[in-house]
Amino acid sequence: MKLCREPSRFMIVLLLTSSIPAAVSSQASTIDQRIDELLSRMTLDEKVGQLVQYPGYSEDRAQAIREGKIGSFLNVPGAENSNQVQRIAVEESRLGIPLIFGLDVIHGFRTIFPIPLATASSWDPELVTAIEAIAAREARASGVHWTFAPMVDIARDARWGRISEGAGEDPYLGSAMAAARVRGFQGDDLTAADRIMACLKHYVAYGQPVGGRDYNSVDMSERSLREIYLPPFKAGADAGAASLMSAFNLLNGVPTTANKFTLNQILRGEWGFEGFIVSDWNSVGELVQHGYAGDAADAARLALNATIDLDMASGIYDGQLADLVRANVIPEELLDQSVRRVLRAKFMLGLFDNPYVDPETETAAILRDDHVAAARDAARKSMVLLKNDGALLPLSEDIGSIAVIGPLADNQVDLLGSWHAMGQPEDVVTVLAGIQSRAAPTTTITYAQGSTITGAETDGFAEAVAAARDADVAIVVVGEREYETGEGASRTALDLPGVQPALIEAVHETGTPVVAVIMSGRPLTIPWLAENVPAILQAWHPGIQGGNAVADLLWGDYNPSGKLTASFPRSVGQIPIYYARDITGRPGTDFKYTSRYIDSPDTPLYPFGYGLSYTTFEYGDLTLSADTITVNDTLTVSATVSNTGDVAGAEVVQLYIRDPVASVVRPVKELKGFTKIYLEPGEQQTVQFTLRARELGFFDQEMLWAIEPGVFNVWVGWSSDEGLEGSFVLSGN
Ligand code: BGC
Repeated sequence: MKLCREPSRFMIVLLLTSSIPAAVSSQASTIDQRIDELLSRMTLDEKVGQLVQYPGYSEDRAQAIREGKIGSFLNVPGAENSNQVQRIAVEESRLGIPLIFGLDVIHGFRTIFPIPLATASSWDPELVTAIEAIAAREARASGVHWTFAPMVDIARDARWGRISEGAGEDPYLGSAMAAARVRGFQGDDLTAADRIMACLKHYVAYGQPVGGRDYNSVDMSERSLREIYLPPFKAGADAGAASLMSAFNLLNGVPTTANKFTLNQILRGEWGFEGFIVSDWNSVGELVQHGYAGDAADAARLALNATIDLDMASGIYDGQLADLVRANVIPEELLDQSVRRVLRAKFMLGLFDNPYVDPETETAAILRDDHVAAARDAARKSMVLLKNDGALLPLSEDIGSIAVIGPLADNQVDLLGSWHAMGQPEDVVTVLAGIQSRAAPTTTITYAQGSTITGAETDGFAEAVAAARDADVAIVVVGEREYETGEGASRTALDLPGVQPALIEAVHETGTPVVAVIMSGRPLTIPWLAENVPAILQAWHPGIQGGNAVADLLWGDYNPSGKLTASFPRSVGQIPIYYARDITGRPGTDFKYTSRYIDSPDTPLYPFGYGLSYTTFEYGDLTLSADTITVNDTLTVSATVSNTGDVAGAEVVQLYIRDPVASVVRPVKELKGFTKIYLEPGEQQTVQFTLRARELGFFDQEMLWAIEPGVFNVWVGWSSDEGLEGSFVLSGN
């Protein structure tokens, strides 16, 4: 029996309507009138121009700007630069329509924060909103109106380098982070001098390419698409994201840049998304490459029909659209719709009234003290303590000597991480510098690089071993180059690159206790470390304050509170790996013919939601507000969490459910809530979650949202694999 079934369209329209900010809707009629008026004066070429975006500015583009044939640029940051180019559009073109400037402001503009996968590990949406607001302030002051972020692709395959740009494996957490980032970039008013337009990307399912190989095709059920990969886009749209980017990949054989099912039907139709859509870089051109469009004209037609409004970098709209309209292949009304969407964004940004930026504001905004302080705070809240045997950490104040070892210990450029916008290596505080400034004057600090990140040379090992031998503790900072993560950086092996594993082994053999600090853009496979070294801190690519943040954690000035948002596999062979797996007919046991590996446990090395603290938290008193609820009810789930250790700390309390019997088999666990609390030693807090019966639903076999009666399991816990368990009944009456 189904308690409730409804087309997803209904729910989605309701949500969208309720989330339109009042400020935007009250402006809408004037904006619409101004768009109508402008459109009525535009030539066909000028209309097409609004749909054309080119990278970088060079003088040979000036004439096209004057003629109204370019509507947007990417990668023209800097107040002076952007003003200069804007002046051509505003003061020298017939209609004076301003350009919109976009840039990949992925984790900061000049003040570089930890990579998004890291900040998601804070499980702190408010923190994420705050840092995106800083990124927006710096970017807008430098003439950037629009960021190509947030990337909200769910990723369950760490081979894919772009896992670094998202929030990890889970749609619930991914949705919370998507909305938080959109709010941070956009605020309530896009005309404000410190806000930029967000762009949800890459629509859609780009995060699950076959083999983890970037740009590769995606083959996926509609259920996975709707339940796992679409929700963060929906959440971002509901939070008011004004634009969205299509992707490079095929989805079930159809390129996502011309996919009428995902774009016209779901995004525009079911969700009523009215923002504008930009293609990804040359993804309109790649319709030909994919073998989906016969030629450039065909590509332009297919993309515009799928409501791709702005053509990034391919030049195909520029070259083809006007002729296609003249030949009646594309109705002018379709073109007008796209032009309207782009113009609306320019009006919403206030560009017609304020096209320029003040270089003095730019100077004042960049690297403000409070921005740098926020970068440090974000970095320490993003790091995840994976292991801490024998309470090796925190270090004692009077520790005699520390050996700081490893190719990332005195490194600046790689701590910036991929997509670091205007970030500069010289802004980065290295781990060595962070340790030197934090350690007591009586502590001796020696440094040995040991090896490079990717090279094969072991000449530096002897010095590293000697440094470790003489020290009370060895802090070994290892990981990936920023270049090895992000776009076009898929890997088949996820070990620490180069000779770094051997370097740590050599240091470990000295008998000096080792703290491994890992700086990477993805979960790496670190079973040897997990087995052998006493302490592991996952520090990700932590941004400009990374070194200070590591020192904060090493000495316990900040108690680690990050939790993983992507499972750490034991080996690449386990990938894709994620906690919300389906229940199989043969759950793994010791018996051979069950769903397991014969050479490895099937569990991850470290699960989703996992992360240690310097204190201990005890969970108790799981209480459900009712044993039985009906479809219109809300269940309250509460538990008490006590800090039973000696130091204060923050804990991410997580709520999971499971529907053990359903008409479509459900995952073993699904995250449905989380909250982060801060407790002094001895303090206790009752945490309450509300779970609406509607949230227990799923897409049924006909792809309708269904809520089915029955028993449900519920957990309140400290990671996806541990917690207090209860159950309740959703009644059919
Ligand atoms: C990436 C996008 C990015 C764009 C512009 C593309 O290669 O896939 O994420 O926004 O370039 O830099």
